[in-house]
Amino acid sequence: MRKKVSIVGAGNVGATCAHWIASKELADVVLVDIVEGIPQGKGLDLLEAMPIEKRDSHVVGTNDYAATANSDIVVITAGIPRKPGMSRDDLLNTNYKIMQEVVGKVVANSPNSILIVVSNPLDAMAQAAFRISKFNRERVIGMAGVLDSARFRTFIADELKVSVENVTAFVLGGHGDTMVPLARYSTVAGIPITELMDKATLDRLIQRTRDGGAEIVKYLKSGSAYYAPSAAATEMVEAILKDKKKILPCAAYLQGEYGVNGLFVGVPCKLGARGLEQIIQIKLTDEEQAALKKSADAVQELVKVIGA
Ligand code: LAC
Repeated sequence: MRKKVSIVGAGNVGATCAHWIASKELADVVLVDIVEGIPQGKGLDLLEAMPIEKRDSHVVGTNDYAATANSDIVVITAGIPRKPGMSRDDLLNTNYKIMQEVVGKVVANSPNSILIVVSNPLDAMAQAAFRISKFNRERVIGMAGVLDSARFRTFIADELKVSVENVTAFVLGGHGDTMVPLARYSTVAGIPITELMDKATLDRLIQRTRDGGAEIVKYLKSGSAYYAPSAAATEMVEAILKDKKKILPCAAYLQGEYGVNGLFVGVPCKLGARGLEQIIQIKLTDEEQAALKKSADAVQELVKVIGA
């Protein structure tokens, strides 16, 4: 049986996610949105690219959640994006309302699915989806760390003029200004980056990673990043559908891990067929632990506002 992935939100992130998934032939794709015509048009357009791409993924766009029935994975991208000068947190109340509307419909049609939440502010929206869906924590995962780490990897590769394939990097914490890029666990062909660049350079790359989303918003003016965010969500989809047991930084509901309880925060996660299969606990230095706590506190503030 073919796998089925539904994507809620046919905006730039949702449509580009459909593009990556179909072009890798990972699953059939249903693109759903409340705006009439947009999901249908984008879905059909993408479907018509499949003969050229030599892929048999079926893609359809719709306004009707019935078409999403029995999805293996539902990627939730619905919500408004930032404008220049806004932080992700400014989207809280609007996107929470949208989340309340869509998660109920998703769950009613795909009660056994795994949810990958992409809407911002990410950690709070993942928490909202977790509470609304009443799914167990294995089946609600937030996308942020893969994106933030990809940005960090891009900047490291560019700085050192090495292949991006050589660079691994880990970014933990919430997907916001307090995110925690972990230099100690970031390597180039296995070599710690701390041995390959001085502290000032490293600090500059870390700050650029923290500001990575805002850097794109500033250029685009009327929206936020979508190629890298949707590629990041697609990597998570692939890890789950192929049961890869891949360790990726994702937002997960912590129950005591890393000293955080009852809150979504970005940590290293093993993704496989069951969704979140394991939270990998690594020993942090006091400084890293303090930074993670600060980041978790920032998420807690948002969660409190929406009562999730
Ligand atoms: C970003 C937004 C989408 O980081 O959160 O680009």
